[in-house]
Amino acid sequence: MHNRVAFIGGQTGTWRVIAMSAVCGQPLSSVTAIDIVPVTAPPTHAPSVWSLHGIASNVRYAERHEVTELRARQEALGRPHARRAALIPIKKSDAWWDLAQDERRAIFEAQSHHTAIGLDYLPAVARQLYHCRDLGEPFDFLTWFEFAPEHSGVFEELVSRLRRTREWNYVERELDIRLERTSDD
Ligand code: HEM
Repeated sequence: MHNRVAFIGGQTGTWRVIAMSAVCGQPLSSVTAIDIVPVTAPPTHAPSVWSLHGIASNVRYAERHEVTELRARQEALGRPHARRAALIPIKKSDAWWDLAQDERRAIFEAQSHHTAIGLDYLPAVARQLYHCRDLGEPFDFLTWFEFAPEHSGVFEELVSRLRRTREWNYVERELDIRLERTSDD
């Protein structure tokens, strides 16, 4: 499956780790670099300290007008000037998963304005959400962002705005890994 990827934490990789911290919950072992590889069977990657798997999937919450606005404003991953990145793995609580879809959407957008806030940061930040709750992974989501070094401060503002929202009351584990591209490719 081509939309399934692994984030491989180890000693070498395309993305060098600048900073790695646990925002809440259990940390992961420190690594110096991360590679992002498509998952094929059987796994072909080199030995690693850890690996996290996720699937680029369909949207769950975005409504028509939001999908249209996102597509109009977002840029793709891999822009040459976007040499900084953030990998933010997130696990939400049982209380979140016990809610009905409409209750989650109400918290996510009507109360927390997640998409509305995020749109303020496009196209400076390029993003990809990977789902992993149904893969039996330790996190529910792997969130990935790429931006130019001069937008590092703006990205910081974005994460701090989101972490102050009601949605984040349901986040029980969150890591924040900041990276820098190591090569020109
Ligand atoms: C760059 C600006 C951002 C935009 C435009 C944005 C937009 C979105 C949208 C539209 C969704 C819903 C996808 C769906 O319908 O299923 C979503 C989900 C999500 N985003 Fe963001 N986002 C941004 C930044 C962030 C940041 C910085 C974080 C982490 C700190 C984050 C974490 C998440 C998570 C965990 C989900 C999944 C929520 C769930 O399904 O419960 N987002 N985002």
